[in-house]
Amino acid sequence: QRVFAGVDIGGTKTAVVLSFEPPRTVARLSFPTRPEQGPNMAVGKIIASLREALASQSITMAQVAAIGVSCGGPLDPARGIIQCPPNLSTWKNVPICALLEEEFRVPCFLENDANAGALAEARFGAGRGSENLIFLTMGTGLGAGLILNGQLYRGASNAAGEIGHVRLTEDGPVGFGKAGTVEGWASGGGMAQVAQMFLNAAVIRGESSLLLDTSGQSPANVTALDVAEALRAGDSVAQAIVRATGERLGEAMAILVDLLNPECIVIGGLATRFGEVLLGPARDVVSREALRSSAAKCRIVSAGLGEQIGDVASLCVAVRAFTYRHKPS
Ligand code: BGC
Ligand code: NA
Repeated sequence: QRVFAGVDIGGTKTAVVLSFEPPRTVARLSFPTRPEQGPNMAVGKIIASLREALASQSITMAQVAAIGVSCGGPLDPARGIIQCPPNLSTWKNVPICALLEEEFRVPCFLENDANAGALAEARFGAGRGSENLIFLTMGTGLGAGLILNGQLYRGASNAAGEIGHVRLTEDGPVGFGKAGTVEGWASGGGMAQVAQMFLNAAVIRGESSLLLDTSGQSPANVTALDVAEALRAGDSVAQAIVRATGERLGEAMAILVDLLNPECIVIGGLATRFGEVLLGPARDVVSREALRSSAAKCRIVSAGLGEQIGDVASLCVAVRAFTYRHKPS
């Protein structure tokens, strides 16, 4: 029986999965990515994790048809090279496919994580049946995968969909090393920065927040996950943080709606965790800002694959490449 392996390299964590029949997985291992430790350490851990996952299921490497790697861009899918993703700041031109192929003697394929998510949601998730679909991956960073007229759209140098790089405000939280960008305002890393701004303001006004208590009164240490927990506990500063992030997300989506007139925008990562508290304000901004008819036509939903989106996305890269039997060009 044929096995597919998926590797999802994020700015915060990396996951390795195995599947006989995607989207179902039979084994999964994950570990913190730790960009500051450089790519060699991470690639070593990917290799060890893949070996461990195979051993846990008594699967041999010979049974593996393909390895799919999904990762933040910029990257070169045809050559299998991760170029210089902003949230993997020490990674420069890492030939991930060559490294894994040398180790495992199995064909390996690389794809941008947002593109991979778009393929996964179009095939198995909330985007089924849509010819024009945008997938937003909202993890440490924020990027878009574009399926236009039923085809993945890559652009001239595989950087189409980098909406996270677009500047919304002159100042503000930083993403891609640029202040006020969509990634700065509306990603996991961005939400942490928005949280810091809101908490600093709360301190000045003498307001309390669970987030101040759990962070030991250090707003700079608060993560998007902390915000999620405080939100569940009904914290009002957390609510304001998520609403602000949602509105910025909505501004980004309004641009995409006006530019590309999609049938649906599917959002993974934080959207799964925060649900309507995030998506409600985002939808309101889209209906206010985008062309009325285009906004009315566009469904805005969180990923149908939920928390599994990253795993299935990387598996889709493997399956798709195996099916085409050649690397994307
Ligand atoms: C990268 C994108 C990626 C996104 C989510 C951004 O920083 O440039 O390519 O899709 O993060 O990981
Ligand atoms: Na993209």
